[in-house]
Amino acid sequence: MHRRFHHGVTDSTNERAFAAIESGVARHGDLHVAHAQTAGRGRFGRPWHSAPGSGLYASVVLFPATPPRPAALTAAGGLAVLDAVRALGLAAARLAWPNDVMVGDAKLAGVLVEARGLDPVRPRYVLGVGINVAQRRFPDELAAERSVTSLVLQRVTASVPEAERVLVDRLDARLAQVAADPERLARDYAEAAGLDRGRLCARTADEEITGELVALSFEEGLTLRDASGRPRRIVLELLRSVGRSPRDASAGGRPIR
Ligand code: BTN
Repeated sequence: MHRRFHHGVTDSTNERAFAAIESGVARHGDLHVAHAQTAGRGRFGRPWHSAPGSGLYASVVLFPATPPRPAALTAAGGLAVLDAVRALGLAAARLAWPNDVMVGDAKLAGVLVEARGLDPVRPRYVLGVGINVAQRRFPDELAAERSVTSLVLQRVTASVPEAERVLVDRLDARLAQVAADPERLARDYAEAAGLDRGRLCARTADEEITGELVALSFEEGLTLRDASGRPRRIVLELLRSVGRSPRDASAGGRPIR
């Protein structure tokens, strides 16, 4: 059961969740939602466009009993959003590393997992989700930067409260998998992000490895078999991106960014 806090117009639901944690009143599972955000944020400090009533802006407080691998939480968040938008009727949605929810090359939703003052024994996370629900237009500066879409532009007529209900349900199921069945979570992630097909290109700060997927594990990392047949393992926290190799993508596949 989630306690639900509705903030009307606020800076950022992730910020409201952290404020509750810092003042000692937060509980695991608390859900912070807003009608609009004035300082909604995305990954890499990018702003998250949060117009009144047209998107779902939601953050969940997580006090996991056992410290999870951060990559497993990130994957669970992305998969939960993907499950939710598919359940609402958008079968064509897919995941792009690490947890962007895309339709074709347009971004539909994103997930931001944050931790503050990380205590390794009792980590506290806030998992924030933004889903574009009813926007018919986006600000020019955002549209100029990247391709974006919403449920309504994809001909899915769901209300924001309906999207919230479905999301919370799917999030509970995926977060339970983080502890109970991380192998299944990793398999589902690889499939949803198209990592289980064709040649991949994985980049870290230091190298670029091209190869086919051997295994994806939140503990062991991403293992690819390179052109010489050698298995190459990459720690997930070091991965900057992984997607279809450009040659496979131009042969008809879809690159994953
Ligand atoms: C991304 O860059 O893809 C992540 C976007 C996350 C946006 C959501 S909206 C609700 C929550 N509050 C925030 O300030 N950000 C997240």
